[in-house]
Amino acid sequence: MSESVLAKVERIPTGITGLDGLIQGGLMRGDVHLVTGGPGTGKTILVARFVYNACKNLGERAVYATFEESSEFFKRNLAKLGTDFSPLEKEGKVKIIDLEILRGKGLEANISYLIELVSKARATILVIDSLTALLLACETQFEQRTFMKTVYQSLKAKDVTTVMTVSLDEGGRVGSEGFLSDSVILLENWVDKNQFKSRFLIQKMRGTDHSRRYHSLTLGADISISRF
Ligand SMILES: Nc1ncnc2c1ncn2[C@@H]1O[C@H](COP(=O)(O)OP(=O)(O)OP(=O)(O)O)[C@@H](O)[C@H]1O
Ligand SMILES: [Mg+2]
Repeated sequence: MSESVLAKVERIPTGITGLDGLIQGGLMRGDVHLVTGGPGTGKTILVARFVYNACKNLGERAVYATFEESSEFFKRNLAKLGTDFSPLEKEGKVKIIDLEILRGKGLEANISYLIELVSKARATILVIDSLTALLLACETQFEQRTFMKTVYQSLKAKDVTTVMTVSLDEGGRVGSEGFLSDSVILLENWVDKNQFKSRFLIQKMRGTDHSRRYHSLTLGADISISRF
């Protein structure tokens, strides 16, 4: 544990309307959290808003690694939703990096690079959005699990709270990354009376008495979670 005052706070409130009350006040500091769901279910918007709130209002510092979309594209899309990272980047509170540059360098190299960046930036939060491409680079399930175990252990050994996103195929199930994470948040799209809607479920959260029901998720500038 670092000696910072922040390290003494056990949970980091997400600041997302309707969420902190479902998880005893926020995400456990130092844990590895997984946000998973199908395409376009809101994984990036949800995680980015948490990082934005924590760095803007709570003095946290973050490294946000994007993989599937370029960092420029990511920033532009989020700014449209009122989550403008530019001031936070200028103040050095958030570092957004494009993992694309490390493609082909090997899985462990990507993770070591991120851990080094976290130390250099004195970041308290690390986001890997998404881990899917890294997992797909593993040839077998065994290799995937071994890789995940290494990632989990390296991150837990650091004084950093990690949030990873993982994309699920249609009808997909969370794999070893779910077992090897401290929490799993599932986002789903579903159809209700011909309307495409989003819902939110906390599948697991170690050390937390959390909600066990589906909640409605509203995406967009006013991202919020509410009871059905
Ligand atoms: N300005 C907006 N207003 C309302 N909803 C929006 C807006 N912009 C995006 N959305 C919704 O958010 C969804 C995309 O969210 P997001 O990019 O966070 O999903 P994701 O789960 O990260 O997707 P991917 O699997 O592609 O990474 C869109 O499909 C759309 O429904
Ligand atoms: Mg995304």
